[in-house]
Amino acid sequence: MDTTQTHLGSVAGADNAPIGVFDSGFGGLTVAREIAKALPEESLVYLGDSARCPYGPRSLAEVDGFVQQIGGWLVGRGVKMIVIACNTATAAGLAHAQRTLPVPVIGVVEPGARAAVHATRNRRVGVIATKATVESDAYTRAIRHIDAGITVFSTATPRFVEIAEQGIRMAEGPIENYTSLASKVYIRPAFQEIAKEYLEPLRRCDIDTLVLGCTHFPLLKALIGGVVGREVTLISSAKEAARDVAEILGRRGALAERGRAPRHEFFTTGADTEEFRAFGSRVLRLPIASVERVGLE
Ligand code: DGL
Repeated sequence: MDTTQTHLGSVAGADNAPIGVFDSGFGGLTVAREIAKALPEESLVYLGDSARCPYGPRSLAEVDGFVQQIGGWLVGRGVKMIVIACNTATAAGLAHAQRTLPVPVIGVVEPGARAAVHATRNRRVGVIATKATVESDAYTRAIRHIDAGITVFSTATPRFVEIAEQGIRMAEGPIENYTSLASKVYIRPAFQEIAKEYLEPLRRCDIDTLVLGCTHFPLLKALIGGVVGREVTLISSAKEAARDVAEILGRRGALAERGRAPRHEFFTTGADTEEFRAFGSRVLRLPIASVERVGLE
């Protein structure tokens, strides 16, 4: 990151416009958090499409329509770049959005695939994602595009989205308890059973790397890691995606001015803005002052 910024010192101009980030709900905040960490001067406009969450069981064509609509809305708010911080939306609409929107657009599948290829030693990689993402085959293609010798085992784990959205938002205590592999957090036995059912078959495939192919899943790291075991490396796209943002803006001379205080804005299509504010702050690990409701339906 520093390299990009030092390098940028020689590039004329800076762009203080915000970066647009969106997801079907809270999950994309795991990506926003990494962008804010890597690029602390950048302002973000985050939209959680909670009213239409989950995206996973919907058709790719429908989700593609959401991506076009939200992309247009973000462009209307003056963003200089868009990060589709949702794997389902990336699989459904990234290419279309790149063709139609006037700003650079990236998704999270390619960064996650890259991180998995770097991590695997035995070249057996598992992917867990929503039904739409698995059916799109986006991860298998992205991973095998980098290394065609890797065997990819994909499973849809749709109930993890609901567990992340509903279960954890009800829970007391710091979010770190759920996201850290070292935690001894109490996880409801029902969640444990669901996780076992989903993940045992993958364990038997002798994978050494598991892609958390949904931006909600890093919120369940303790649960997932507990079932697959410590010898399996868990991959999330967030850090790698943040690195891509830095690189793209750096190359275009479009990073924000150095030393500048960012101004983040948060929006949800859901009815409960206060809940989004409270839970969102925990996921983002930054205070969120206010959340505005936006009607897109
Ligand atoms: N967070 C989204 C993803 O990365 C999807 C969750 C959902 O809405 O189904 O796929």
